[in-house]
Amino acid sequence: MRHRIQLPMKEYRHVSQSEAFFYLYHPNGEKEQIAFHEYDRIYQSPGLYEQIFYDRLRCKSPSVVTELLYKAHQSVGESFTEMRVLDLGAGNGLMGEALKKYGVARIVGVDIAPIAKEAAFRDRPGIYDDYHIKDFTNLNKEAINEFQEWSFDCLTTVAALGFGDIPVKAFHQAMNLIDENGWIAFNIKEAFLSPSDQSGFSKYIRNLILSEYWEVHFIERYKHRLSMEGVPLFYYAIVARKKSSIPDELTQVE
Ligand SMILES: C[S@@+](CC[C@H](N)C(=O)[O-])C[C@H]1O[C@@H](n2cnc3c(N)ncnc32)[C@H](O)[C@@H]1O
Repeated sequence: MRHRIQLPMKEYRHVSQSEAFFYLYHPNGEKEQIAFHEYDRIYQSPGLYEQIFYDRLRCKSPSVVTELLYKAHQSVGESFTEMRVLDLGAGNGLMGEALKKYGVARIVGVDIAPIAKEAAFRDRPGIYDDYHIKDFTNLNKEAINEFQEWSFDCLTTVAALGFGDIPVKAFHQAMNLIDENGWIAFNIKEAFLSPSDQSGFSKYIRNLILSEYWEVHFIERYKHRLSMEGVPLFYYAIVARKKSSIPDELTQVE
């Protein structure tokens, strides 16, 4: 279904990425203002997420991250299709869909929002083998055991780190649910890797890049999407291999 959407007038477009919004016009003429981060609201309307972020703002991150992951696999001669992927911050399933196009065998989604799961099964049936609504900052033993039974050998997380979404602690927990030698493929806004970053991601990821816990295969700076003003937003796509369990101390920001 196509929606009638509009970005705000020029004078209201200078807000930060976390304050960005658009208007949705309803058939009865009502105009609704929706923040980019109101995922619960956006997922309620089939096709709205795709229309604003993918069609209008030209997001291409699921395919960029999947292609890099595929390239890394090719370079070591491993079978891409046999992977068992944990897709954290799966939303309505665009990353799962990108992986499925490459024939990935098993994909399990995780999101914090129940409507994300509903939207993924409604809009992309058959992509996820399982989908959990969980807060990874606070997983109990039972949930950890359940995830470990999948023997995941890949973690993906796309357009979901930082900005009040997935914090370092949850990303760290997910990474430690991946088997040794498993793959980590994700994207992150370039500002989150700058030395002035306050979210903790910069320190955590920089430490991992330089550590024995990761074998880095790709770090690519690319255009994630356009901002409301039409300016490219640059992100890093990172593909690494987890070499051993990552200690909790690495998540601590002094
Ligand atoms: C921008 S969407 C990205 C969805 C999908 N990965 C994609 O590429 O289209 C971000 C998703 O992260 C989810 N999210 C936010 N905080 C989260 C958390 N702490 N744990 C898991 N998912 C979270 C949101 O509910 C939302 O579905």
